[in-house]
Amino acid sequence: MLRRLHPDQPTSFAFTPDNQVWAEAQITKYPEGRQASAIIPLLWRAQEQEGWLSRPAIEHVSDMLGLAYIRGLEVATFYFMFQLQPVGEVAHFQICGTTSCMICGAEDLIAVCKEKIAAKPHEISADGKFSWEEVECLGACSNAPMAQIGKDYYEDLTTEGFSAMIDDMAAGKVPVPGPQNGRYASEPLSGLTSLTDHDSGKTQYNASVQLAVDIGDTLKRIDGTEVPFSAPWQGKDAGKTSGKPAKYDDLMPPAGPDGAQGGRTAAEQAAPRNVGDSSDKKSEAPGEAKGVKAVGKPAQGSVAPAPKTPKAKPAVAENNAQAGGTKPAMLDAPRGGAADDLKLIKGIGPKLEKMVNSLGFFHFDQVANWTADELAWVDQNLAGFKGRATRDAWVDQAKKLAAGEETEFSSRAKKDDIYKA
Ligand code: FES
Repeated sequence: MLRRLHPDQPTSFAFTPDNQVWAEAQITKYPEGRQASAIIPLLWRAQEQEGWLSRPAIEHVSDMLGLAYIRGLEVATFYFMFQLQPVGEVAHFQICGTTSCMICGAEDLIAVCKEKIAAKPHEISADGKFSWEEVECLGACSNAPMAQIGKDYYEDLTTEGFSAMIDDMAAGKVPVPGPQNGRYASEPLSGLTSLTDHDSGKTQYNASVQLAVDIGDTLKRIDGTEVPFSAPWQGKDAGKTSGKPAKYDDLMPPAGPDGAQGGRTAAEQAAPRNVGDSSDKKSEAPGEAKGVKAVGKPAQGSVAPAPKTPKAKPAVAENNAQAGGTKPAMLDAPRGGAADDLKLIKGIGPKLEKMVNSLGFFHFDQVANWTADELAWVDQNLAGFKGRATRDAWVDQAKKLAAGEETEFSSRAKKDDIYKA
């Protein structure tokens, strides 16, 4: 299938402040020089915020990761989970049409979409609230037929139930995701035949549905305020990046008979945790988007309040030069007022070019003349992109470009004009 950018694009994109902090924290998950690996979660977050991925959003994420725009575009246009055109304001239904779901009634669900939403996939309904498409197997075949909205699954659907669900959503309600026929998860319809005592102490809904209900982001645009996020990979300061605590444990199932809760032992539960005041509480109740009432939402337990911690400066925003290696000779400004286009060096995107310029490097010959020690210094001072200069062999590329030759990348970049705004 041909996947192209939509002809009508917004002029700009920006993450909400909370989403920006979240995105910067995601980037720190990856080793130095491998930050590009964060592209999928960042693009997904941009889509959760806006409903779809516009060109400015893809370019914004590419800039954050120091990627050429074409690299971001390649990812966004490859994966079907990324919507490249506007979707319904309330929900975009992805109806699974593969074997199990087709046998169990997917075509009837699609008929409901055609009747209640729009005749064709990706068309937005007359009221602007809904859109739909047919997708391949979503891996919930035991609960066929099913549909995905955002990151939630609505399973064991019937045409009547699905039709009523669309009506509920149009009325501002949020149907609880998961099996719609009373099943807890994907156990046999006739009930469990083994491990029958395994459900003692279970939550009202299965784990993923319970989490969706507790977080309350099912139909809501994700602006970063919907859930306190945890960043355990950041070590002892986990959760402080956004000034928000690591509170996922509060969303975990209740303690079992041995005192273990949410995968933590009783001793771990007793250990001091990063909790504080309640000023971080949302105005909406968990499980409810603004002006949207949750249907069948369970009573909420008290959630441990959160401390206000100062926002840590994200790694990508660090600007201070660090020790290590030998500082190369630098310029205050480009010679003759005209810098070389350092983006012709593979691995340097618009954001990295600005960073390299800010360090005092504007010309291919400067890069070409870095010694091994000087290269080490530069690698240490590419905040958020440490190691990138060595990894992408900037010096070797710069030697050719400084000599007036082309590299495979520079000739392709010029031909495709990949950095054209
Ligand atoms: S066939 Fe529909 S989820 Fe697998």
